[in-house]
Amino acid sequence: MRILMVCLGNICRSPIAEGVMRHKAKEQGLDWIVESAGTESYHVGEAPHRFSQKICLEHGLDISHQRAAKFTVDSFAVYDKIYALATDVYEEIKYIGGKDADMSKVELFLNELHPGKNESVPDPYYGGEDGFKPVYELISKGCDAIIRNNK
Ligand code: 4NP
Repeated sequence: MRILMVCLGNICRSPIAEGVMRHKAKEQGLDWIVESAGTESYHVGEAPHRFSQKICLEHGLDISHQRAAKFTVDSFAVYDKIYALATDVYEEIKYIGGKDADMSKVELFLNELHPGKNESVPDPYYGGEDGFKPVYELISKGCDAIIRNNK
């Protein structure tokens, strides 16, 4: 299974989701390919936000090699499952895909954990370091749910 985690900048939330999901899938012996992208291009080519890197390292995960990429319409053909980390991201994915958007592949990330609730992982970009801890915990729980629901 090829999975794409998507947020706005691809520097705070989805890089954590990429690192955590890849690690948990590997732990379970699942042959999943996990990548991430952002619907905005401001940060393309950048490493994850330093606080995203830090919170992951505190959990034994080095995500420093990951680089921000832009979500494009081509992603619909490449991935089996596209997870939007937030509701605004889901709408952007639909907009970018236009007539080629196969929305059956796209799901709101937290709906795997809390089905039908349409919740978003909060954007920690404009806050301080404290915001990254609850974001990490939520993403970790969401990734556990994805494994439970899809293996
Ligand atoms: P992310 O956070 O979507 O979790 O990577 C953001 C990063 C950058 C911006 C917005 C959100 N930005 O506007 O630059």
